[in-house]
Amino acid sequence: MKILGLESSCDETAAAVVEDGRVVLSNAIYSQIAKHRPYGGVVPEIASRNHVAKLPGIIDEALEAAGETYDSIDAIAVTYGPGLASSLLIGFSAAKTLAQRLNKPLIGVNHHEGHLHSVFMKEDAPTEDEVFPMLGLMVSGGDSSLIMMRGVGQYEILGSTIDDAAGEALDKGASVLKLGYPGGPIIQKTAEGGDPQAVRFPRGLESVDRGKWIYKYDRNLCFSFSGLKTSLLTHVKNLDHEPEGQELSDIAASYQEAVADALTMRVERALDQFDIKSFSCAGGVSLNKVLREKLTALSEKTGVPLLLCPPSLCTDNAAMIAGAAYEKVRLNKATEEPNDVNPNLRLENWQ
Ligand code: KG4
Repeated sequence: MKILGLESSCDETAAAVVEDGRVVLSNAIYSQIAKHRPYGGVVPEIASRNHVAKLPGIIDEALEAAGETYDSIDAIAVTYGPGLASSLLIGFSAAKTLAQRLNKPLIGVNHHEGHLHSVFMKEDAPTEDEVFPMLGLMVSGGDSSLIMMRGVGQYEILGSTIDDAAGEALDKGASVLKLGYPGGPIIQKTAEGGDPQAVRFPRGLESVDRGKWIYKYDRNLCFSFSGLKTSLLTHVKNLDHEPEGQELSDIAASYQEAVADALTMRVERALDQFDIKSFSCAGGVSLNKVLREKLTALSEKTGVPLLLCPPSLCTDNAAMIAGAAYEKVRLNKATEEPNDVNPNLRLENWQ
């Protein structure tokens, strides 16, 4: 089954064709980073206007690269939340119109579900029987959470950030260091050759405090990055000069280390606490080299297999949306078409 996926939840305008949930026939993305860079973050008005301008061309590109046409695809999948309302609406309206005009099913997909599915979208990916129950670390610019997946379409959020997301912490850190936007890749580059132990930045909610809950989550499995950002700001203010050269690399390496450590620490706690067959990491921040190394080392130490998504599918893309949609079709759960976008859509069980 070939599904055309559309994604426009933030600042990537994307379309892709995926066969049977795993084989990526095309993955077209227009990244708006250059448009938002002067503002140091995503400007919703600029994002939605660019989705309007670019989406038709990106859909054509995805179909052409896959060697498909509107007639030959079997269904259309679209992100309907969470994300920026004005951005989601562009992809959603396009998908709904196409589905009606072509008389093909429309499958609504949760953006986070797409990220979580992306680790299965490679040739050597294991089957569901081999991986569940699985722990997912979802780390993007807008969200950081630990999710227990007992099967396809079964989600239990174990912990979440109580303030900034990991990607947001990197973006804000890069802004404090005047490195540019988006912060994750620039901090990684600046950190090369730096000493990750040069500055001891906080890991947020670091101490183990059993029996305490934040909202409905175990405090030990929650993240907090706002103190880290403030600590960086204070560190830089206390210097009597702008950091550069080796000093800048040391600060960037220490900051990146704190983010990667904070994330890995919670994964380790969850692996200790629950009976888990495998764990995964997805979302834009999962591209981070240090985080990948730390998670790989944790997998070797615990013997619990780690699934990472292919680099091309870590940041926002439509292939993961088409892939996740296929799971709903395969399990006969793609029955209700969404009527509207939901910017605050939560991960919910559909199995
Ligand atoms: O998943 P994504 O494309 O968008 C959201 O859904 O939010 O993730 C974007 C985030 C940004 O915060 C960016 O700084 C971060 O992913 N990112 C990275 C790297 N590449 C992108 N963070 C750390 N290291 C990277 N190499």
